[in-house]
Amino acid sequence: MTTLDKATAQLERTGFLDLEVDPTLDLVAEINRLKKEKNAVILAHYYQDSEIQDVADYIGDSLGLSQQAAATDADIIVFAGVHFMAETAKMLSPSKKVLLPDLKAGCSLADSCPPSLFRAFKEKHPDHLVVSYINCTAELKTLTDICCTSTNAVQIIESIPADQPIIFAPDKNLGAYLEKKTGRKMLLWNGACMVHEIFSLEKIVKLRQRHPNAKFIAHPECEAPILEIADYIGSTTGLLNFTIRDSATEFIVATESGILHQMQLKSPHKTFIPAPPDNQCACNDCPHMKRNTLEKLWLCMQYELPEITLPDWVIREGVASINRMLEISKKAGL
Ligand code: 13P
Ligand code: SF4
Repeated sequence: MTTLDKATAQLERTGFLDLEVDPTLDLVAEINRLKKEKNAVILAHYYQDSEIQDVADYIGDSLGLSQQAAATDADIIVFAGVHFMAETAKMLSPSKKVLLPDLKAGCSLADSCPPSLFRAFKEKHPDHLVVSYINCTAELKTLTDICCTSTNAVQIIESIPADQPIIFAPDKNLGAYLEKKTGRKMLLWNGACMVHEIFSLEKIVKLRQRHPNAKFIAHPECEAPILEIADYIGSTTGLLNFTIRDSATEFIVATESGILHQMQLKSPHKTFIPAPPDNQCACNDCPHMKRNTLEKLWLCMQYELPEITLPDWVIREGVASINRMLEISKKAGL
């Protein structure tokens, strides 16, 4: 039984998962009260629902969130994001209580790289250094030399001596983008994010014809043909900053649609169009990120559950790869 299975079973036994929230409760006021009372900080990823972003103390991308988790002096970190992000926060601040509103908020990309399979792969290439995208499990981080996020991935790869062979895991799309950007050939793990692989090139091309003045911007987790036609490629923070500083007033955005909330708040006079996915649904939501709700956020703060716990050896052996990433990012001014 994994740590996650054990924690889920415990939640089921205690009846926590059956708790209902009084619909008359002012959740925003309650969450703000609990924040003060418990000295808790809410860290939210840009892919969260807008109402969660609006009660958060810090909203950011994976790099910003891990920097905040390492620096906070709060007693409780409430992570409005997915499981690997809350695990990263726990590894960086092991003495703090880390809560995740829904323990089942996972990640298809992290799931695409099971540590046991990766260990066997790594053993076949003992001379390779392992760089892992932070979107991976805590256990995978124990098999990793340096983590990276989409904000600092280029700088991380460029910090490694040119003659050092590299395994890049788990995202093959980000890996291929980095190969192109840095000119380094790497061994790529065959993983991907279900949200960023869903975009339809054909529909995007047609949409651009209908909006000739719109800039098309994409996250590097997207597939190569989508990235090839992008006017700008960047992490969620990179995309947001681009929409603020660029003179265009219309943007077609190829990443999870939650980021549109901050884009619209920062540039109310501009128009943001989510890039169309390759199915009949008009949305490109991450089903894992969207498991968190305001109700679950309140329940988790009220009862201090579900809590993220990790074996000591995982924290000890995994945190070094995150700390290396933070050091290189700091030197690069990120
Ligand atoms: P960033 O937060 O690095 O932009 O990555 C996006 C993502 O997929 C997070 O799950
Ligand atoms: Fe994982 Fe993709 Fe969802 Fe990010 S958007 S949490 S990478 S499945």
